[in-house]
Amino acid sequence: MLKDRTQMDGSRVLLCVCGGIAAYKAVEVLRVLQRAGCAVRVVSTEGALRFVGRATWEGLTHAPLATDLFDCDTSSIPHVENAGWADAVLVVPATANVMAKMACGLADDLVSATLLAMPAGTPVVVAPAMNVHMWQAPATQANVATLRSRDVRLVMPVPGRLACDDVGEGKLAAVEAIADAVLEALREAADADGPGAVKTPDAAPLAGMHVLVTAGPTHEAIDPVRYIANASSGKMGYAIAEEAALRGARVTLVSGPTALAVPRGVERVDVVSAAQMHDAAVAAFVDADVAICAAAVADYTPKFVADHKLKKANERLDVIELVETVDILAELSATKRAGGRRRVVVGFAAETNDLARNAQAKLGRKGCDLIVANDVTRADSGFGRDTNHVSFVGADGVEELPTLTKHEVAERLLDRVAELL
Ligand code: CTP
Repeated sequence: MLKDRTQMDGSRVLLCVCGGIAAYKAVEVLRVLQRAGCAVRVVSTEGALRFVGRATWEGLTHAPLATDLFDCDTSSIPHVENAGWADAVLVVPATANVMAKMACGLADDLVSATLLAMPAGTPVVVAPAMNVHMWQAPATQANVATLRSRDVRLVMPVPGRLACDDVGEGKLAAVEAIADAVLEALREAADADGPGAVKTPDAAPLAGMHVLVTAGPTHEAIDPVRYIANASSGKMGYAIAEEAALRGARVTLVSGPTALAVPRGVERVDVVSAAQMHDAAVAAFVDADVAICAAAVADYTPKFVADHKLKKANERLDVIELVETVDILAELSATKRAGGRRRVVVGFAAETNDLARNAQAKLGRKGCDLIVANDVTRADSGFGRDTNHVSFVGADGVEELPTLTKHEVAERLLDRVAELL
């Protein structure tokens, strides 16, 4: 029966797809869960890719598909990251092989390692499908019993004509029954946690999250030795990146030119121009949960970059034609709900007058969730300083903070982001 599929907005489901003919049904399950408001990530075994290809999963989730334990950069451990991210995990179709691995605790590929890495208490739903004799084999039945004894929820296969033309038990349960089991598990977990509860431990409240931070200035080249820049030191963005890493997040820091060291546990992507910052930020945002745009991106860039040092005697240096740069913050905000996901995007506003009014207008224009408005006329605030005097401007109004160190502002900001998530 169709249950209440409209109340799961933003719940995170990790869909593990295994190598069986019924893998195509996992596509339909994914769509039902997305329509119910769930954010769904997919991990696939190599075998499953023979049944449903990478392009299908990537097209439907708008995210790269993970299949390999070792296909990662140095800062991420995909099986641990995905396991920590999920509110519930679903295995469909669960082959005899994957259930045997789960029962034994084997972790020799991305799917089995992810399943073993699930934090205690995360609901696990398993929907088996296989040949009737494989299903009835004592080994498989013993594994089913083991999984059941560990509170794994089984959506039992049904009798019918199987792909091998045998008739009997082993056919994947109905797509709706599988989706309903996941939604039921999510609701029970949410009820058990109580309103507002987060599943991650306090020590690492952003565990499993990917946080993108932009920081620093950009340099817009005029010729090989000259450029347009601004006075941003990058300190605010670096403090946010460091604090997010301390809270357990995987952090990508897209940084313009600064003199700052890479904060511990942070992956830095160095860029120079606004266009490079745009490309790096958009790439990192694909699987990010949060984007915080603290960079002082140049609003304009020279229309033409000379390939040689311009000579003031005989070349025009007094007039430089400029074109507007792409607004990274606005673009990330416009795509934050892609794939049914709920992501938080934060912008900064450096203002010299009418701080609250200008920041509120910017919030609407850019489409982000929160603006950190900064009065750059104050001596204790703004470019290059170690302190900042900011206001958080959101849909619910303006909160003015006292003068704080940039690290304290980062702490308060990430508290606010956690509420928004
Ligand atoms: N920003 C961006 N990409 C740009 C310009 C700005 O991502 N090309 C982001 C900044 O990182 C910051 C926010 O937008 O988070 C505010 O930038 P700002 O330049 O102050 O906003 P504008 O829309 O340009 O407004 P104005 O210059 O008129 O104040």
